[in-house]
Amino acid sequence: MSERVSVMIDEEKVDSRIRELGEKISKDYEGKTVHMIGILKGSVFFATELAKHITVPVTMDFMSVSSYGDGTCSTGIVKIIKDLDEPLEGKDVLIVEDIIDTGRTLSYLMKTLRHRKPASLHLCTLLDKPERRVVDDVKVDYTGFEVPDEFVVGYGMDYAQKYRNLPYIGVMHLEDD
Ligand code: IMP
Ligand code: MG
Repeated sequence: MSERVSVMIDEEKVDSRIRELGEKISKDYEGKTVHMIGILKGSVFFATELAKHITVPVTMDFMSVSSYGDGTCSTGIVKIIKDLDEPLEGKDVLIVEDIIDTGRTLSYLMKTLRHRKPASLHLCTLLDKPERRVVDDVKVDYTGFEVPDEFVVGYGMDYAQKYRNLPYIGVMHLEDD
């Protein structure tokens, strides 16, 4: 099997969309501090780029959860691998995710984090695959792009831990040699 990546959303489009999201979030959080929570590792590229375009104060924390193995298929099992460093009580929390697929990860995470009593809890994702959703309690507040049901890589997203560093969003093709 050989791996090939084709461009789905080029670098310029991704960058300008992130800029727009930053402007929108800056307006919505006027007078507040955005406490961004990046979900490791996929959201790191997006979270840091987004933070650079937010003009209100930003604090950042990261957590690592896992719902996938090394392949392309959801197991439905969510575990916290690394928890947050800081408490959330009273903070205006913005969860930043790379992609929402079935929604299982975020459904579990939002419930867990709500128990920690943040002042507000919102969700921002670079990509959303709405056709793949299997839960109905995940409300996305900020979406970069809605994408069709294809396995995407780049801009933080991986296939077997590779391709996160691509500056664009690509589609992963696995081809017989
Ligand atoms: P969900 O729980 O099914 O919504 O899965 C969400 C997580 O699965 C994302 O945060 C990604 O880490 C991973 N994921 C889902 N679809 C893709 C994809 O197309 N490419 C890379 N990772 C993906
Ligand atoms: Mg992820």
